[in-house]
Amino acid sequence: MKKKYTFIDLFCGIGAFRIGFEKNNYKCIWSSDFNKNCQTTYEKNFGDKPFGDITKIKTSEIPNFDILTAGFPCQPFSISGHHKGFEDTRGTLFFDICRIIKDKKPKVVVLENVKHFINHNKKKTLKTVISALEDLGYFVSYKILNASNFGLPQNRERVFIIGSRNTFFNFELIKFRKSNNLDYFLEKNGKHNFLKKNEYTILNDKFIKRQESGLIFKGYRNKNGFKKGIRKNTKHLNRVHRQPNRIYSSSGYHPTLPSQESAGRFFIYDEKLKKVRKLTIDECYKIMGFPKNFKKHEKSGEQYKQIGNSVAINVVKEISKQILDQKLLDDKIIRKYDALENLKIQRHARV
Ligand SMILES: C[S@@+](CC[C@H](N)C(=O)[O-])C[C@H]1O[C@@H](n2cnc3c(N)ncnc32)[C@H](O)[C@@H]1O
Repeated sequence: MKKKYTFIDLFCGIGAFRIGFEKNNYKCIWSSDFNKNCQTTYEKNFGDKPFGDITKIKTSEIPNFDILTAGFPCQPFSISGHHKGFEDTRGTLFFDICRIIKDKKPKVVVLENVKHFINHNKKKTLKTVISALEDLGYFVSYKILNASNFGLPQNRERVFIIGSRNTFFNFELIKFRKSNNLDYFLEKNGKHNFLKKNEYTILNDKFIKRQESGLIFKGYRNKNGFKKGIRKNTKHLNRVHRQPNRIYSSSGYHPTLPSQESAGRFFIYDEKLKKVRKLTIDECYKIMGFPKNFKKHEKSGEQYKQIGNSVAINVVKEISKQILDQKLLDDKIIRKYDALENLKIQRHARV
């Protein structure tokens, strides 16, 4: 039987990384998330309860593993300018990731964050993360990946930062699979929550076109937005520009399911029914790649928050496959020390 590579699931939420990696036969041996509601959902699905606050956990309490995964919260670093490597990250959750990496020396590290992480604090945050990982002995590469290129009808862009002790993870080898449109994923039957005709406005056909992102902006909800400071005859613009009021067509992709949403205000124009309706919670989980038998939290507000905070499973699954295909876990590969040293020299010259 083939060896099962092990991983730990940090900031695990409801376990999307775990599902993606397990699909390629990796074994999760430890997880952590201090959010009680996430712990409940995670335990319901995987049978083990994640450990709590990572800042309070000693590395000696964590078993040895091959891969570390983390969709970690983005926090600013107070950068001294002295390039102290991972010491520059003290006081942040990334520091805790680094301290685990330093002690455990996993073969591969997979980090995920929101797209704007790349430009956060004038790119200093990203540079600090890369420097810290390089100082810990990793080749680092990163790329923004969109869930819609992995068979999911959602325009969800996230940055993936991958460190490997062997050689660079090559993002160019990733296999893309353009998604079908949202229509294809919608529940055919079901008790839908429709908007009344007077509750929305559909744009004139001549204004409707598919954007490069795959979104088709179809109209907006007739909700009152801000009451003050609106210029005469521009009230509708105020509605249009408020993202939660926008209605997208089911013949395109869905916008990113956001993390701060707890009421599920995702309204779509269902082209088959010719009506505006709310995306159901099952549809939300489906367009993140969750399996049908995934057990959601019992509270509706938590279900929405948890899915918005999660990571698209199909993307993680492809990354975990590439890690195997690119032989990043293979002990026989000789590390390119010179390449890493060269890289550090270049980086210090650059920063
Ligand atoms: C962006 S979410 C990651 C979600 C996860 N990737 C998923 O698929 O559901 C970040 C998670 O970090 C957790 N978190 C934040 N600070 C933490 C800490 N100090 N210790 C453990 N978990 C923490 C939050 O509770 C949250 O669930």
